[in-house]
Amino acid sequence: MDERILPRHIGIIMDGNGRWAKKRLMPRTAGHVQGAKAFRKCMRHCIDIGIECVTFYAFSTENWKRPKEEVNAIMKLFSDYLDEGLDTEKDDVVMRFIGDMEPLDDSLKKKIAKLTSDTAGNHGMVCNIAVNYGGRDDILHAVKQLIKDGADPDSITEDSIGEKLYTAGLPDVDLIIRPSGEQRISNFLIWQAAYAEYVFMDVLWPDFNEKHLDSAIEEFSRRNRRFGGV
Ligand code: FPP
Repeated sequence: MDERILPRHIGIIMDGNGRWAKKRLMPRTAGHVQGAKAFRKCMRHCIDIGIECVTFYAFSTENWKRPKEEVNAIMKLFSDYLDEGLDTEKDDVVMRFIGDMEPLDDSLKKKIAKLTSDTAGNHGMVCNIAVNYGGRDDILHAVKQLIKDGADPDSITEDSIGEKLYTAGLPDVDLIIRPSGEQRISNFLIWQAAYAEYVFMDVLWPDFNEKHLDSAIEEFSRRNRRFGGV
């Protein structure tokens, strides 16, 4: 395992919760509960193996179209996680939430702001949770910020846009993992993943464990990344 080339930044699309529940004749929300457990397990493993940054896609700008009870159940899982808080402080993780937090409940927004500020001075892994996140919205938001700051169009560069993205200051994503058998990006980190390697896996997210993460990293380390060169 020590021989592997570790990705600096991993993006994970937590997909397949609904199908996991359906297979067991359970409500979709039961899949999300199990998915939240897989998230904790996977985040801990990222810390243990020395990943610098990980971004979990937890709720997209499109997920509001789901039934209200399902949206509320997912928000409740975020809230419960934020109430725990302690482990991440102990682990020296920097917790960030990326996306437009504006439409979230005030109480959730307060908890997010608290965990973000409580862990901002930590020095370990950066863990981003993407909530109400969309890659196109990320780019749009960045461009609006540049315009509001009065940027001269000729001075705008890829770097200056990158500095306004929700992931500003973090390395580009090297590896995107998508479980559940689907093979698409679904508006996740589309700017940041320009040179990412993709690993699609036939496991539903609630069943995703440390071994799946290790095997995705092994697959990544076997790939020959050329960044457009030869
Ligand atoms: C996609 O699977 C999953 C979601 C939209 C929700 C993901 C949220 C969690 C795993 C909870 C995370 C909790 C914390 C604390 C970060 P899907 O429902 O679209 O699955 P399907 O394609 O099988 O229907």
